[in-house]
Amino acid sequence: MPGVNCLGRFTASADFRDDTGLGLLNNNRGCIVSGNRFPSYKAVCVAAFVGFAISLGAMAVASEAEPEERERIMAEIERRLVDDAAREAAIRAGRDRSVLCASCHGVDGNSLRSYIPNLAEQNTAYIIEQIGKFVDGERQHFVMPVLARDFSFQDKVNLAVYYASQTLEPAEADPILAARGKPLYEQYCLGCHGATGRGHAGYAVVAGQKVEYAISSMKRYRENALRRGEPLETTRSDLLMEQATAHLSDEDIAALAHYSALLE
Ligand code: HEC
Ligand code: HEC
Repeated sequence: MPGVNCLGRFTASADFRDDTGLGLLNNNRGCIVSGNRFPSYKAVCVAAFVGFAISLGAMAVASEAEPEERERIMAEIERRLVDDAAREAAIRAGRDRSVLCASCHGVDGNSLRSYIPNLAEQNTAYIIEQIGKFVDGERQHFVMPVLARDFSFQDKVNLAVYYASQTLEPAEADPILAARGKPLYEQYCLGCHGATGRGHAGYAVVAGQKVEYAISSMKRYRENALRRGEPLETTRSDLLMEQATAHLSDEDIAALAHYSALLE
């Protein structure tokens, strides 16, 4: 399976750090290999691998070109980030390009509505991955796919660098619900999204995310997990998040959204 890691995921850089300190992540593949402390993660990985292997036949042709483009975009982003002048230029160009986005995501990526995601401080790998999903039609929305299909290579680079460089405002969330979410988060989510919700290995930053949006995303993954094979317009599909949400109740999901919103 050339170019496919055990999670079937794109990895943004060949050298991710495992800063869980728990040995949960294999450094260069974004794959969870050690289940000593959290055996369920190993199961998630194995299950994801099996599921991915089954669907690989169907996906191999369609996805061949796409990771290559993402790798080129991520390489360009890395190049900009290590050079101050290039980074500043990307931020300026990204800000200019984001004029159309500001009415929903806010000028600085702090969204103006609870059902619209913040983009500030989001990691570049996740932003690029989601833009790719909107372009492919894998993720649906009434506006985002139309906008995303219009982005040039440079637009994608600049927008990702711009939003990642912005500062998240503190989220509004309920500390009592958040306290209920803490043990769930530590058990089920920390391995990929990190103790501080900053997202390991290019997984989504969930810290500070809008509660309503996070709840709706988790429910959509869960719905897809439970109704696999019956595509729904509102669905968000991702094997790992479907595994992670399939067993959660509505209360668990709400508690998790409040907990991650308050992570700093
Ligand atoms: C009309 C409002 C609107 C506009 C304008 C808009 N977005 Fe969005 N965007 C959304 C909504 C709503 C979502 C979440 C969609 C969903 O629920 O799946 C989203 C999702 C995203 C995501 C995925 C975020 C995540 O956490 O998964 C990215 C990246 C994004 N938008 C970038 C942009 C960029 C860049 C622009 C400007 C070129 C833009 N958006 C313009 C409403 C908008
Ligand atoms: C095995 C890794 C993994 C685990 C464990 C995991 N996630 Fe995720 N998470 C992902 C990936 C990958 C995505 C992006 C999926 C996609 O492309 O839609 C994601 C996306 C999300 C999103 C959407 C982010 C956004 O901005 O739209 C939320 C919210 C989220 N995860 C919360 C959680 C919570 C809460 C848990 C624990 C119950 C959890 N995740 C467990 C890998 C994981």
